[in-house]
Amino acid sequence: MNNFGNKVIYQIYPKSYKDSNGDGIGDFPGIIEKLPYLANLGIDYIWLNACFVSPQNDNGYDVADYYEIDPTYGTMEDFEHLVHDAKKYHIEIMLDMVFNHTSTQHEWFQKALAGDETYKNYYIWRKGKPSGKPPTNWVSKFGGNTWEYVERYDEYYLHLYDVSQADLNWDNPDVRNEMAKIVDFWMHKGVTGFRFDVVNLISKPETLEDDFEGDGRRFYTDGPHVHEYLRGLNNASFGKIDSLTVGEMSSTSLENCVKYAGENRQELSSVFNFHHLKVDYKHKEKWSLKDFDFQELKDLFITWQEGMQDYDAWNALFWCNHDQPRVVSRFGNDRSYPKESAKMLATALHMMRGIPYIYQGEEIGMTNAYFTDISEYRDVESLNYYDILKKSGKKESEVMHILQERSRDNGRTPMQWDASANAGFSEATPWLQVIKNYKEINVEAALANLDSVFYHYQKLIALRKEYKVIQQGRFVPLAKEHPELFVYKRIF
Ligand code: NOJ
Repeated sequence: MNNFGNKVIYQIYPKSYKDSNGDGIGDFPGIIEKLPYLANLGIDYIWLNACFVSPQNDNGYDVADYYEIDPTYGTMEDFEHLVHDAKKYHIEIMLDMVFNHTSTQHEWFQKALAGDETYKNYYIWRKGKPSGKPPTNWVSKFGGNTWEYVERYDEYYLHLYDVSQADLNWDNPDVRNEMAKIVDFWMHKGVTGFRFDVVNLISKPETLEDDFEGDGRRFYTDGPHVHEYLRGLNNASFGKIDSLTVGEMSSTSLENCVKYAGENRQELSSVFNFHHLKVDYKHKEKWSLKDFDFQELKDLFITWQEGMQDYDAWNALFWCNHDQPRVVSRFGNDRSYPKESAKMLATALHMMRGIPYIYQGEEIGMTNAYFTDISEYRDVESLNYYDILKKSGKKESEVMHILQERSRDNGRTPMQWDASANAGFSEATPWLQVIKNYKEINVEAALANLDSVFYHYQKLIALRKEYKVIQQGRFVPLAKEHPELFVYKRIF
């Protein structure tokens, strides 16, 4: 049986972790400086958010060159030092592979635009409707239609995300080979972990049709050849080494995830699903608020814990990431019980079966940003939805409230290291403002207090390392219907 259950992963958003060269943006030398801190916490892997060359329209999830580090984070040498130095602390690096789409600035797309048929076939193109409308009515994840017209071809290319993120055509074997080559390149640099961005969207059906019931996702999510393509990638690249992989699965199903992450399937080691982070979406819509549904949250955890273990498949356990608001503000009480809620939420998650993730700052109880003006936001999705919500007739104050609860920038503010200017993150003005509460909530303060959230996380990790039952035991829910308690046991 695989023993991924003894690993704990720490996620770093490089832009916001530690700035070493005074440009207001985090970088690799900054991360290297913090390796002793991470070793003290006890983690096994650092997942680095997308850090390849990119125009940064979507903060690196619009990759223009998969073989180069974005210069804002340092040089290739800096990256190699990071991999090397981390290993000295028994920490491995997990890279974020954005393989569903490339930036429209990528050489492949540029060649396609210039008329090169070979590269045109790296992307997904369709004719518009006779009425002059785009090929389908699908809605992009960041708002607006998913198709962009290109005059040269009198065709549209597909972009499930921003217009600057063109979807790759995985039905083309050349694209699949390119992807395996990229993974191989980074494996040779000593990288042993890979997170695959929205990887369950890579296989689109042959015939694309209008969706009259939703935004189109039911047609392209967990698509027709996705398992075959993942297995192909596994066999051609990371499957050849002792690697740890995780697929980000957008709006997925349990039925598919037991396959993606099932033992002997030769696809991935584990999966992220997001159902438990939608229990505060009104009518399943991200931009409509409601109080979170505790029973639904419990039911989802129970379903996924039991469902995955039945197939020896592995869940990633997580509350936070760079796309989510801070958990202590979301499911806890960051005003009256910040420490208690942060510890309670950490315990509930870390004792389950799966691979726990800690998102930078979660281990000191960082909260939402509570920005009050749109000029403070940087995230492309938040800015798009600000306009969309305003156009729908909502008042400024209402829209700001929604962003305070839902914006991805809540999780992207600079790491709070100490009580000095800019929270010790940078000597320059940070690319995104630090949160006002940094004088109370910061690493220095946490390390000085044995009762802090930090030491609680440290203990949870140590417990996982010590007890096989936490790593491997079965998850058994108890008091399933209790309105206030989430109870489970782990047994052999
Ligand atoms: C998921 C990533 O986590 C998110 O940050 C990004 O915007 C989308 N995928 C598109 O790549």
